[in-house]
Amino acid sequence: MYLISFVCFCLCTLTFFAILARCIPLLRSSVLSYGKLQSIAVHPTSTIASQLAQWTVPKSWFSHFYVVGLISALYCFAEIVLLLQWHGHGPVLYCLRVWDIPQASSHISVLESLVALALLTLHLARRVYESFYIERSSLEARMHVSHYLAGVGFYGAMVLATWLEGAANFGVWSGIPSPSALGLSDLLCTRVVMATLLFFYASMHQHQCHCILASLRTKKEENHYQIPRGDWFEWIVVPHYFADILVYLSLCILHGFRNWILVCGLIWTVINLSITASGTEEWYKTKFGLRYQATFPKGRWIILPGIY
Ligand SMILES: NC(=O)c1ccc[n+]([C@@H]2O[C@H](COP(=O)([O-])OP(=O)(O)OC[C@H]3O[C@@H](n4cnc5c(N)ncnc54)[C@H](OP(=O)(O)O)[C@@H]3O)[C@@H](O)[C@H]2O)c1
Repeated sequence: MYLISFVCFCLCTLTFFAILARCIPLLRSSVLSYGKLQSIAVHPTSTIASQLAQWTVPKSWFSHFYVVGLISALYCFAEIVLLLQWHGHGPVLYCLRVWDIPQASSHISVLESLVALALLTLHLARRVYESFYIERSSLEARMHVSHYLAGVGFYGAMVLATWLEGAANFGVWSGIPSPSALGLSDLLCTRVVMATLLFFYASMHQHQCHCILASLRTKKEENHYQIPRGDWFEWIVVPHYFADILVYLSLCILHGFRNWILVCGLIWTVINLSITASGTEEWYKTKFGLRYQATFPKGRWIILPGIY
């Protein structure tokens, strides 16, 4: 319960700071904007803000989020299998048993936890593949170090989210997995089937959108940006962000919105990506002007179709 509370607290604090950074000009100009959006950000005026703005890392380091996330997911999977099959505690589950308490860790079944962990692992593996073999990030794009730390922390938190609230059912504290939580019929209920279908549907479109973005870059024009067309780009400014939201929504549906960490993760994703999406719309208008308006004369949703 302590770790669950701590992770939820961190995600809520991150969300609060993202909103704060959007509202405070000093933070907005120095910390919030990343990648191509830095070109339209107001330049920091105070000394503190300009010094803060210098702490950047290459945006291509986004790939580290997925590599760290994937390794953590596989590692957690191995420890859970060790516990379920051979009743052995690896270091993570051992620390959980010694320093945490089982309260609030039994409302997600073993199968629900394992399915969520498997889906998140697939998502992370696809993002690792896309980062290294599909995307063509420019060498100039940079992000603030706080984004980098938040990104690594976020994917670590999401890996924990998939199983932590069902940890008592694995037998972390009692040593015996909960038999009632192992029914295969759990897997066939409408909620789980719908969530899994939504997950694959969103993943397929996100992959398609990342391929479209990558296709806009030829080797000679590594730092060039163009107006993406096709697939969901026809009606949403940042469809890959929308698909990301659907991925986390599908995990929340899978756990019947009973998983607090996943719900906090979904809220963070919606708010964080909506802030970046509104900046992206502004950036397209500034960079491509009339050509952009002529391309989409009826306009497009920014990130959430029908809502925003
Ligand atoms: N869950 C979360 O909290 C969270 C947070 C952030 C991102 N994400 C996910 O991570 C993925 C990547 O995010 P991102 O912020 O890096 O997306 P992005 O800024 O749209 O960039 C994605 C890739 O496309 C390139 N690109 C973007 N617009 C382009 C254009 N008009 N012409 C040519 N190339 C273009 C970028 O190049 P440059 O890098 O050179 O600009 C980058 O390689 C997204 O699917 C997003 O959903 C999730």
